[in-house]
Amino acid sequence: MSRLSIILVLVVVLSFTKAAFSELCNPQDKEALLQIKKELGNPTTLSSWLSTTDCCNKTWQGVVCDTDTQTYRVNNLDLSNLNLPKPYSIPSSIGNLPYLNFLTIRSNPNIVGAIPPAIANLTKLRYLYISHTNISSQIPDFFSQIKTLVTLDFSYNALTGSLPASLSSLPNLVGITFDGNQISGAIPDSYGSFSSLFTSMTLSRNRLSGKIPATLAKLNLAFVDLSRNMLEGDASVLFGSSKNTQKIILAKNLFAFDLGKVGLSENLNGLDLRNNLIYGMLPKGLTALEHLKTFNVSYNGLCGEIPQGGKLQRFDASSYAHNKCLCGSPLPACT
Ligand SMILES: *[C@@H]1O[C@H](CO)[C@@H](O)[C@H](O)[C@H]1NC(C)=O
Ligand SMILES: *[C@@H]1O[C@H](CO)[C@@H](O)[C@H](O)[C@H]1NC(C)=O
Ligand SMILES: *[C@@H]1O[C@H](CO)[C@@H](O)[C@H](O)[C@H]1NC(C)=O
Ligand SMILES: *[C@@H]1O[C@H](CO)[C@@H](O)[C@H](O)[C@H]1NC(C)=O
Repeated sequence: MSRLSIILVLVVVLSFTKAAFSELCNPQDKEALLQIKKELGNPTTLSSWLSTTDCCNKTWQGVVCDTDTQTYRVNNLDLSNLNLPKPYSIPSSIGNLPYLNFLTIRSNPNIVGAIPPAIANLTKLRYLYISHTNISSQIPDFFSQIKTLVTLDFSYNALTGSLPASLSSLPNLVGITFDGNQISGAIPDSYGSFSSLFTSMTLSRNRLSGKIPATLAKLNLAFVDLSRNMLEGDASVLFGSSKNTQKIILAKNLFAFDLGKVGLSENLNGLDLRNNLIYGMLPKGLTALEHLKTFNVSYNGLCGEIPQGGKLQRFDASSYAHNKCLCGSPLPACT
């Protein structure tokens, strides 16, 4: 045999060996995943997670490895719709997947209990979605240690307790989505000191109470939804003509402030203030809002003529109904 053919044979044999005996999945990641499966009672929805197969070859349901960096560490785990037959906690073995960027646990009514402290070990976590489960307990303070976090979504669970004040120290946080829980207490003063990246705050359908902190005036939120709580005070801090605000949803609270004095972002496309204690006149500037699509100020203490022009007459009378003395189209003429 020539030297060249020996080399060729060697190359073929070596690549064959690699294909047959090595896998891309990191052994520690595989162990953690199999442990997660076990902690969830080996559900049939995870039957594709097998010790004999490569967790990185896309056959493992909900598991994605990092192919960009060629490290093949598990960086994305989706444990949604597991159809668990009985209640289980969020597996603490998730804390042993240190390269996770994305963790999603959606639509699992049988996921219950607290958010495990092991999650604090995920120091590369950027996007965390735990929604439509039955996890209860408080939102733990340890999230403020995961400096990489971009988005926290805990919508529609059974979370209780108060909002962790420490979240505002997260330097990369863009938004929090905590709607549909039983979170109580006040919005912390510290929430005025989120970084300038922070543009989205959804706290609707909870049991929040107390006065909205004046510190929130410092935020430049594109989207804010505080509806269906028991919040009070001067929510005009969320407004401002120099902000990039697109939607302000404050419906069904106890907010009381003079709407006539607020500045309006020219990008505003949704304003829902229904069922509050808001007083004063509708600001003339509303007629200049070109993008306004949803608008409802009904059930407040507003007074005076509805400014005529712009998009304001496109909304029907129910958007203006049940105020102290609003008048003019689409309501009856002022007398
Ligand atoms: C993944 O691995 C299993 C077992 O090793 C194999 O049967 C399957 O064909 C592989 N799938 C891909 C897409 O490589
Ligand atoms: C929570 O559990 C109850 C039953 O205990 C169930 O009816 C409900 O759908 C669950 N909630 C969610 C969000 O899955
Ligand atoms: C966090 O990680 C360390 C080492 O990586 C490990 O020893 C510890 O058990 C983990 N903690 C939790 C709560 O998972
Ligand atoms: C405005 O809100 C009131 C009170 O909730 C509601 O009855 C009405 O249908 C709403 N109108 C529009 C156009 O959304």
